[in-house]
Amino acid sequence: MSPNLDIRPIAGALGAEIHGIDLARDLTDDTVAAIRRAFLDHLVVFFRDQTLSPAQFMAFARCMGKPLEYPFVKGLDGFPEITAVVKRPDQTVAFGGNWHTDTTYFPEPPMATMLIARELPPSCGDTNYANQYLAYEALSDGMKSLLAGLRWVSRSDKAEASRTREDRTTAERTVLIADHPVVRTHPETGRKSLYVNLAHTAHFVGMTEEESMPLLRYLFQHQVRPEFTCRFRWAPGSVALWDNRCTLHAAINDYNGFRREMHRITLAGDVPV
Ligand code: SIN
Repeated sequence: MSPNLDIRPIAGALGAEIHGIDLARDLTDDTVAAIRRAFLDHLVVFFRDQTLSPAQFMAFARCMGKPLEYPFVKGLDGFPEITAVVKRPDQTVAFGGNWHTDTTYFPEPPMATMLIARELPPSCGDTNYANQYLAYEALSDGMKSLLAGLRWVSRSDKAEASRTREDRTTAERTVLIADHPVVRTHPETGRKSLYVNLAHTAHFVGMTEEESMPLLRYLFQHQVRPEFTCRFRWAPGSVALWDNRCTLHAAINDYNGFRREMHRITLAGDVPV
């Protein structure tokens, strides 16, 4: 029987906290199915006060999908799929510090990403999320028709993304490139979402950067309108699970001089259509 999860939305657009679950112990098939339903309904779900070892974090990830290795940062010893996302007190740039969806320079970008907060600055270092179903649905019919046939090129070396990885990368010289539709249809919900992002979208397929940028600039600011977003305040042991197929996220870099460490796992996805 499906358990009744205690689900508390944190904003009108997306995001919900799920209370009353210990991810180290409670992952029956029914609970996993209920978490997946909440993830599809709310796009990003959060759990509080989880004391998960790396092995337990991996076990939760395997319930949700297939963990992947991240190409630019070596994983934890013994857990190659867990990446430590760290900002040291002497660093001024935050990893993932601008709006993006993860690793779209792969032909099959990850369907989801999980983060667990290990160490946090005193009262900052939140993460913003934006609902890309709403971003798409708010466009005019004319703009929707214009975008329907367009594809875009994703490059791992686009400056907006690569500068957020400074000092952290092991293989920065490898440039990964893929192209994707501007509007994608979610393989599980069937809903359409806007699928470009400031960090990784270089230009439209068949157009120069100069030609692409006016429309892309409009889409980049449209897709993160405040009414499409939520903001999550972390505490040690908080866990987030978000759907990369219909959301953007951005780490807020407002804690220079403090250390923040998150552990991250991405889960395999499919070819966006
Ligand atoms: C990321 O972009 O995956 C990291 C987000 C964060 O650290 O809040």
